[in-house]
Amino acid sequence: MKIGCPTEIKPQEFRVGMTPNAAGEAVARGHQALVQKGAGLGAGFSDEDYTAAGAQIIETAEEIFATADMIVKVKEPQAGERKMLREGQLLFTYLHLAPDPKQTHDLLASGCTAIAYETVTDDRDGLPLLAPMSEVAGRLAPQVGAWTLQKANGGRGVLMGGVPGVGPAKVVVMGGGVVGTHAAKIAAGMGADVTVLDRSLPRLKYLDDVFGGTFKNQYSTAGATAELIRDADMVIGAVLIPGAAAPKLISRAQLGDMKPGAVLVDVAIDQGGCFETSKATTHADPIYDVDGIMHYCVANMPGAVARTSTIALGNATMPFMLALADKGWKQACADDAHLLAGLNVHAGKLTYYAVGEALGLDVMSPQLAIK
Ligand SMILES: NC(=O)c1ccc[n+]([C@@H]2O[C@H](COP(=O)([O-])OP(=O)(O)OC[C@H]3O[C@@H](n4cnc5c(N)ncnc54)[C@H](O)[C@@H]3O)[C@@H](O)[C@H]2O)c1
Repeated sequence: MKIGCPTEIKPQEFRVGMTPNAAGEAVARGHQALVQKGAGLGAGFSDEDYTAAGAQIIETAEEIFATADMIVKVKEPQAGERKMLREGQLLFTYLHLAPDPKQTHDLLASGCTAIAYETVTDDRDGLPLLAPMSEVAGRLAPQVGAWTLQKANGGRGVLMGGVPGVGPAKVVVMGGGVVGTHAAKIAAGMGADVTVLDRSLPRLKYLDDVFGGTFKNQYSTAGATAELIRDADMVIGAVLIPGAAAPKLISRAQLGDMKPGAVLVDVAIDQGGCFETSKATTHADPIYDVDGIMHYCVANMPGAVARTSTIALGNATMPFMLALADKGWKQACADDAHLLAGLNVHAGKLTYYAVGEALGLDVMSPQLAIK
């Protein structure tokens, strides 16, 4: 199969859909890897890295879209890219179609088959191609929060780990899922005094069993939150209610109860944010002050560490990409119900029920699509 990897063109996107190692694995199995010139530069991969792995460097995106059987990307195809998709071509990338009728229309009109990273599932009810980005954002949260806590950045001037004779920063993590657990691990590793709040008792049991000696956990109620944030130097927002906007767990009035210069890092900002005063920011201008409390609310945190994010995403996508290339998408999806869960579009029809419901469009059963 010819696997094409164009340069990402969405603003501020530095990741790339295929690493040189993934290209090498595909080539070793007899496939062709076609990578657009400069596609890996934002993630620190040169064209030479790709050619050394056996990939071919292609000058333009147009040539890649015209020749590849499968297009592997990171972000949803932009309008210009969607025009180049062809009937029978396979697209494997993040799509997020439910809130995006224009993209959905264009993908249906193209006749392509599109498998969305975000709806591929695993045996543990997880989303294995979303999880790596939650891991990255979670681990990044205490790092950016620690920087924001510095005096020159508007923070309280508190060091995460303290020093001998001076206590550590107090960090509260709201939500103990993928983001929250990784955030708590790193904050505790920096020496902070960390408490994770969650509403799921099984999750709290897991956190207690695995991390009981590393950080504390508590059942999440409005009362527990009010008590903990009074004393907190940093609060990390990491809650998720699937399919719903994030619940607002700290009101503007409550900012007055917090210590001046304390920091809120709202990772859940991509679902609307879990603090009343959160509004999405960018890497270029990431923090702002409301009533003396510093807010960090970057909606695409993994972009800050494009190299780590690219490799982490590539590790998760590569086995699926290889299965699609080796077997063809129909057989690969027939053999793996989790990959079939990723099928969103085929030959002018939606094949993912939640997207159809959100956009009021007919859906063909994915099982029928692979017949
Ligand atoms: N900003 C970014 O760049 C970025 C990157 C990755 C993920 N995210 C977002 O981070 C959020 C968390 O993602 P995740 O992968 O950790 O989700 P997850 O489902 O693994 O974890 C969410 C946790 O929140 C808990 N929760 C729900 N309601 C709660 C409440 N009221 N109080 C306390 N806990 C509550 C759930 O029990 C669950 O354990 C999502 O909104 C996700 O989209 C943002």
